[in-house]
Amino acid sequence: MNIKSIIDNLKNKGVYLFMDGKDIRCRAPKGVMTDDIRNQIRQHKKEILKLLIIENPYNLPTNGSMATLIQGDCLDALKDIEDDSVDQKDYTMLVKRGHGDFPRIYRPYSPNELYGQEEIKQIIINCFKNGTIGHSYLFHGASGTGKTTCARIIGMGLLCEEGPTSMPCGKCQQCKSIMALSNMDFLELNNANFTGIDFMRTLKADFYCSPFMGRYKIFVFDECHRMTEATQSIMLKEVEDVIDGVYFIFCSTNPEKIIEPLRNRCMSVEFQPVKDNDIRRMLVDVCESEGMIYQDGAMEPIIKDARGLPRNALFLLQKAVDSGKVQKIG
Ligand SMILES: Nc1ncnc2c1ncn2[C@@H]1O[C@H](COP(=O)(O)OP(=O)(O)OP(=O)(O)O)[C@@H](O)[C@H]1O
Ligand SMILES: [Mg+2]
Ligand SMILES: [Zn+2]
Repeated sequence: MNIKSIIDNLKNKGVYLFMDGKDIRCRAPKGVMTDDIRNQIRQHKKEILKLLIIENPYNLPTNGSMATLIQGDCLDALKDIEDDSVDQKDYTMLVKRGHGDFPRIYRPYSPNELYGQEEIKQIIINCFKNGTIGHSYLFHGASGTGKTTCARIIGMGLLCEEGPTSMPCGKCQQCKSIMALSNMDFLELNNANFTGIDFMRTLKADFYCSPFMGRYKIFVFDECHRMTEATQSIMLKEVEDVIDGVYFIFCSTNPEKIIEPLRNRCMSVEFQPVKDNDIRRMLVDVCESEGMIYQDGAMEPIIKDARGLPRNALFLLQKAVDSGKVQKIG
């Protein structure tokens, strides 16, 4: 049975499905939810999520905001509701976008697309839900664990035309331009384009200008430990008294090289390597998405060599494909 007709069928019974953080949640008039319906949802969880999030045929809010979901004729039905949820632990949505190598085309655009990193997912989801998005974060951890990815997710969440939301749509002009690094309100600065104290002095003036198009301005300082101490010091006051509407995200593989007062003024988020099981799930999902076949055990050396780093794992898989160890069907 086609997934949309399953959802339509449920909808006719008054059952509404929507995303709420890590769950598919259901709202239904009392007595309507049966074990049969629950099983049907569990069985097709993956496809339902894909439909709800990617195609979103009902234009449902993907951030679980009931206020916007409850409208018109279903208001009556919802007077007498019960809440249900489908456990979605260990579920990650893999989405392929654009062209290029695996790390690029499988870069997550929302917390639901991150493998592992449960705590970080929760931080992102909850800070949007509770309106407690930090004005200065320090994302630190090994290379390829998702620091830049999460900085962009927060940037998209803040600027998305459907937001602020922890589940940015990934499709609107704001989201697309952030990922293409052409959004004037989301500046990702790294060593290539910011070179020292003079640059920082000039940039400072920018903190005080209104956003160009969006609601906020987000500055991501990648590999920020490479800033000289003098340059880092310039940021102290800015970080202490962040201007309304401005957000700073510092990313670093060497946080110990960041001066302590700057570190102390940021909310520190550590990116740990991802568990082997999560790396395995990611590789298997990519193989499925790419229509690739592999022999039993072929993923194990990749998982071992990846050492919990998703980018490594994706590059190693790419190499295995390019060298013919993993083959595409057809
Ligand atoms: N938790 C994750 N789930 C799925 N893919 C991930 C995850 N973390 C990282 N990736 C993949 O790894 C790639 C690199 O991630 P990212 O650029 O965010 O790492 P980083 O921590 O910023 O690394 P660096 O320190 O080298 O800048 C992403 O494009 C994505 O494909
Ligand atoms: Mg990075
Ligand atoms: Zn968007």
